Parts: sequence; C-alpha cells; structure tokens
Amino acid sequence: MGRCPSCGEWNTFEEEVVDRGDAGKGKSSIVKSAQNFPKLLSEISLVQVPRIPTRFREFDNVLGGGIVAGSIILLGGEPGIGKSTLLLQMALQIPDKKILYISGEESESQLKMRAERLFPKHQPDNFLILTETDTNQIFEHVKSVKPDLLIIDSIQTLQSQLIDSAAGSISQIRECAAEFQHFAKTSAVPVFLIGHITKDGTLAGPKILEHIVDTVIQFEGDRHYGYRIVRCVKNRFGSTSELGIFEMNNSGLHEVLNPSEILISQHDDQYSGSAIAAILEGNRPMMIEAQALVSSAVYGTPQRSAIGFDLRRLNMLLAVLEKRCQFRLGAKDVFINMAGGIYVDDPAINLSIVASVLSSALDIPIDAKTCFAGEMGLNGEIRPVTRIEQRIAEADKLGFKRIFLSKYNLKGLDTKGYNIKICPIAEVKDMYHQLFAEN
Ligand code: TYD
Ligand code: MG
Repeated sequence: MGRCPSCGEWNTFEEEVVDRGDAGKGKSSIVKSAQNFPKLLSEISLVQVPRIPTRFREFDNVLGGGIVAGSIILLGGEPGIGKSTLLLQMALQIPDKKILYISGEESESQLKMRAERLFPKHQPDNFLILTETDTNQIFEHVKSVKPDLLIIDSIQTLQSQLIDSAAGSISQIRECAAEFQHFAKTSAVPVFLIGHITKDGTLAGPKILEHIVDTVIQFEGDRHYGYRIVRCVKNRFGSTSELGIFEMNNSGLHEVLNPSEILISQHDDQYSGSAIAAILEGNRPMMIEAQALVSSAVYGTPQRSAIGFDLRRLNMLLAVLEKRCQFRLGAKDVFINMAGGIYVDDPAINLSIVASVLSSALDIPIDAKTCFAGEMGLNGEIRPVTRIEQRIAEADKLGFKRIFLSKYNLKGLDTKGYNIKICPIAEVKDMYHQLFAEN
C-alpha cells in the first residue's frame, strides 16, 4: 500500500515479517494440557513462592516482600532517573546468588566505573556482565551461565531475529519480552526488564508489556531533585499500594526512612503562604509542605501555575474560594509549589493548598506546628479523607500541635491517645476564622 488511509502520507508503511516457523506448536500445547481438569478451590494446595530478599527494605516492600522466583518485573522510568543505578546497586548487594546483568546501553567499563562508585573495592564473585542485544545470543549465554537472577537493561535495545524491524519498535519489544517471559516461567529465574518511558509519561513500548509481565514498577522523580519514588503499578504477588522513597547522591541511591522530615522546609522565620499537609503516598503517611504565592496580576489575565500539583484542581479550588467563600482572587496571580519535587495526587492535600493560598493572600503566616488533611468540595464544604488515624498519628509523632480536618472524619475516631489538637471544620470559613481571624 503506497498511501496510508489514516494519515494520508505516502510511503510511510514499513514491512514487518513475523516468523511463523513454529506456529503449529501453540496448538499441540493445548492438546497436551487436555488432562487438566477443573478443581475445587479448596483442593488446590497453597504453594509458598520462594522470594529473594534484596538489601533495600523499601524495594522489597514495593515488590511485596522480595523478588519472586520465576517472576518477570518491568521497571519503567524516564531516561537518566536512575533505573540502571537502582538495579545495579540492588544486584551487587545480593549475596550467594548468581546474577547476570545484560547491558545493551552501557559498555563493560562504564558499568565497572559505576560499580566502583557505588561500592569501592567491592569485587563480588557472583555478578556477571554481558553486553549483548541479540536475544538468541543472550539465551545461549544464559544457558551456560545458569544465573539465579537476570537483569535486562533495557528492553528497548534488544533485538530478536524472529522479527525484522528495528530494536525499540513495538513488535520487537513485544517479541523480546515474550521470550523472556517464557524463559522466566520455564526456568523459575526472575527477570528484571528495564524500560524507558517517554517524556509525556507513557511507557512507550513498555506500556504494551504491562499485561505480559507480573509486576510493573515505576521509578519517578524530578531529575533536578535528589528524591526518587519507586511505585508499584501492578503486582501479581503483592499489593500495589506500597512505595519506596530513595535519595540519589554521589554514592548512589539511599533509602529515605523519614520522608516527612525532608519534605518540610527548614527555616526559622515564618513566611506566609506555606501550609503543611498530612498526605498518604501509597500506604504511607507523610507530611509535605505546600507553598503558595499570591500576588496582584501584572497583566490582564492572571497567571496560575502549579508544580507538583494538578493545575486544573488548583483552578477549581480558586473558583470555589471566589464563588462560595467570597475571597477575591480573580485578579491575582497564584503560584503553587510542592517541596522536594514530588507530585501529590492525594485529594487530602486540597485543604493545605487552600490554607497556603489564603495565608499568602492575607500575608499572615500559618504556625509551623499546624497541619491539614481534607478535601474541598465544590460548595466549599470540607470532605472527609481516607485513613485519617494514620495521618493524625504521623503528625502527632512529628510533634505537630494541631491538625485541621473535616468534622465528618470524627465519626468513629478515637481522639484520646493523641497529644495533637484536632480542629474539626465543616467549611473553609471555619478554618479561616481559626487561622487568621484572631490576628
Ligand atoms: P542511570 O541509572 O544511568 O539512569 P537510567 O538508567 O534510568 O537512564 O542514572 C543516571 C543518573 O544518576 C546520572 O545522571 C547520574 C546520577 N548518579 C548519581 O547522582 N550518583 C550515583 O552514584 C550514580 C551511579 C548516578
Ligand atoms: Mg540506564
């Protein structure tokens, strides 16, 4: 076909030859498994899956308690975020297991340099490196090496001879992943696949793998900040609500066990426009500082901009403040920034955004020992948020003196055990009076 019926361009078609040499095999496997019969759930015995623990407690948690034998795990993230570093660092710390690291991106000496940087003078005798992109060759080597763990960096550089198109194309990625999935399932060797995500956030190529692999892990963060979040998007062997926080510095990635302490900026003076939220990332409560700057618009159309927060949600919150609460923000520029380059999705952040905007607009600082957890509805009402006990406990643990939350969250809540003062509110105005009216 010369002209594409969809986009109208000429000569844009590319031929892809799929080798059907072993097409008949699929059928015979169905015949073979014919003696399989339906079983009662109660008759099926529970097999404990063996797991390989890593030295990263955070990473183990994300995986649901270690690397499951025979599982295939996709690690996605933007180029340069630290995927190779994470897996190299993890692999170099696993003792007594033979690990084969296949690199299609970096040379042996580059990997050696990185390993030296991560663990100077560490010469493990269970870690092998192979720079190869042809899957046939890789499987040849795998057969002779017999690793206990296989790492592929990255799936986009691999090439299978069964497919004619270039490395990184959709059909190559799919075929190569399928080959490794088959390998993982038949050999019980766990396989890590690294996949690059494009700028717009979709796992280009790797997105199509999500249904093939057992576990999808996303590596997120702003490259200009040191913090990285490892998030599980899909897990056949555990929950997806776990996440790990790491910090990247000169000696590689380090676990962050007290995220709240870094996501709150340290300053002695009190500035207006900052409010601390008790949010949940995955299962984990943490405190994060929202900063707002409200100033008179220089141009006719006021600017609204948000880093680490959804701009549409900000516009909605501002509209509610304007319409329901009569705060005049229509002619103001509003800027929002989250500490640490972290993107916050939890709706419980809304109340602290509102508080920081009001604080900046009025130029009255909010006490640094005050925090917020609540969602704001379109009528200006404050809605309850999930798992309030965990949020209160975290704030209490970190020495906060009071927390604003929805009064509807009080139902069934035992407030006795906390030192922190709980300030239930029904709408924004209540919070406004308590925070600013006395000044
Ligand atoms: P890398 O693992 O190569 O990223 P990816 O595989 O996701 O493309 O990480 C690259 C970045 O990490 C690089 O810009 C340098 C930085 N880095 C450190 O800051 N400290 C370190 O110890 C290492 C090894 C890397
Ligand atoms: Mg890399």
